[in-house]
Amino acid sequence: MERKWWHDSVVYQIYPRSFNDSNGDGIGDLVGIIEKLDYLKELGIDVIWLSPVYDSPNDDNGYDIRDYEAIMSEFGTMADFDRLLDQAHERGIKIVMDLVINHSSDEHAWFAESRKSKDNPYRDYYIWRSANEDGTLPNNWGSIFSGPAWELDEATNEYYLHLFSKKQPDLNWENEKLRQEVYQMITRWLDRGIDGFRMDVINLISKTPGLPDATVPPGALYGDGGQHYINGPRIHEFLKEMNDASFGNYDVLTVGEMPGATTDDAILYTDPERKEVNMVFTFEHMDLDSGPGGKWDVKPFDLQKLKENFTKWQVALHEKGWNSLYWNNHDQPRVVSRFGNDTTYRVESAKMLATLLHLLKGTPYIYQGEEIGMTNVAFESIEDYEDIEIRNMWKERTEQGASPAELLRAVHVKGRDNARTPIQWDATEHAGFTTGTPWLKVNPNYPTINVEQALEDPDSIFYYYKQLIALRHQHDVIVYGEYALILEEETDIYAYTRTYENETWYIYCSFSQEEVTVPLSHDTSDPVIGNYSESPAGSKEELVLRPYEAIVYRTTR
Ligand code: NOJ
Repeated sequence: MERKWWHDSVVYQIYPRSFNDSNGDGIGDLVGIIEKLDYLKELGIDVIWLSPVYDSPNDDNGYDIRDYEAIMSEFGTMADFDRLLDQAHERGIKIVMDLVINHSSDEHAWFAESRKSKDNPYRDYYIWRSANEDGTLPNNWGSIFSGPAWELDEATNEYYLHLFSKKQPDLNWENEKLRQEVYQMITRWLDRGIDGFRMDVINLISKTPGLPDATVPPGALYGDGGQHYINGPRIHEFLKEMNDASFGNYDVLTVGEMPGATTDDAILYTDPERKEVNMVFTFEHMDLDSGPGGKWDVKPFDLQKLKENFTKWQVALHEKGWNSLYWNNHDQPRVVSRFGNDTTYRVESAKMLATLLHLLKGTPYIYQGEEIGMTNVAFESIEDYEDIEIRNMWKERTEQGASPAELLRAVHVKGRDNARTPIQWDATEHAGFTTGTPWLKVNPNYPTINVEQALEDPDSIFYYYKQLIALRHQHDVIVYGEYALILEEETDIYAYTRTYENETWYIYCSFSQEEVTVPLSHDTSDPVIGNYSESPAGSKEELVLRPYEAIVYRTTR
């Protein structure tokens, strides 16, 4: 496989709203990011992925774009953006933008035109349908943010499709003119000097013609339209066309957010010869703790399932495509609370989880705050939550009679605001994030968990991430080595090997709060990294792993 700069890169995701506020309005901004570039340089990351910074009415915090070529006023100006790009580049850090083109905001100029009349030149930029003859909605699809996926617009008495909120109408990708406009917009950003795109729900852009009804899952109010828009009929054609017309002509990183993509799909999307995207974000590992009722149907985490899942992706894409690796993003709860232990073993388990992920094959993504082991938050009142997904779900389910206490518990475990509380920079008021009132409350644990503390402590999670990032830059075995699962039957241990040329690395990760003894079959004289300062006990034949221990050995033939 031809080597690419993003093969040994580590990406750091910034959710600008919650990163660093430079002007005291309670909302993070671009100047705030510039102020922290040296911090990111110290961590050693190669690329920043910026969640949307475009002009937006913020129904979904910037994932509803009003103008693709203007900066959100709360975040600053285009001059600030150019300065951020320059300053990052000066430090050898690349910048990848979010590209949200499955939908726009309903306040986008295209939609303002589109809704005016049935014969408006922009009408077909969106997906409009009249009601069925019996007065029912055009089809039975549900919105991913609760309620039906259709909204009536009175001006023309037709419905428009919105897979997300009512303020996020879906763009009509069947329309060639719309597609060309989008490609030109992408190219203008590339010409500005950015280094790639994270492509929001990009495998949802092609819908089955005729938009047929979908099956309604047991207990659900609406049909699961995903059958008709996930990896839809023209998706590969559209991606290839987009690649040819825009980013394929630049040496940039593209990662498609692709819910519902299987490994077979991912090979098609990421096989370099097919020229679609470089890598995809799968959701399979993020769904392992959900029951049949979906995200809010919380199920205990099962390590064996995680092992099976990661192994499937590692093996399937080896030499055929490329993986992205992540535990966290702005839509997911904090991993140390989710799969680790955010009390007694917070530091150990955060480092263990980092080891597990960062020694896999693929491009790792770190989400802001993960590098200091930020945890979930449990606000007592639903009023303290800002996220539209949480708010819509709450309204729909309480109206149906669900128990608010149970819903709140699910929000504590799964809600997206877990990831969105402001970054904890220090122990001063509002965690040093803002001098004003933060748009979302800070996590009350900021006096002990914060960046200042992490930078002062040589054993901190921060410096451990720094070491892992540096290792990837130094060792081809991490970047290109073949993966194999070992100790498959050990239910509390995730262990695997990576092999490249004459080297094999053994990675052991314990998910147990107790000691666990595992058999050993190799030399342990060359440990590479571990999350305890003393080597583990054991003998030539066995290794005794302490609670949440991670230890990595290198062997050569
Ligand atoms: C996925 C994004 O990550 C999420 O934050 C957003 O709400 C939806 N796509 C809709 O754009």
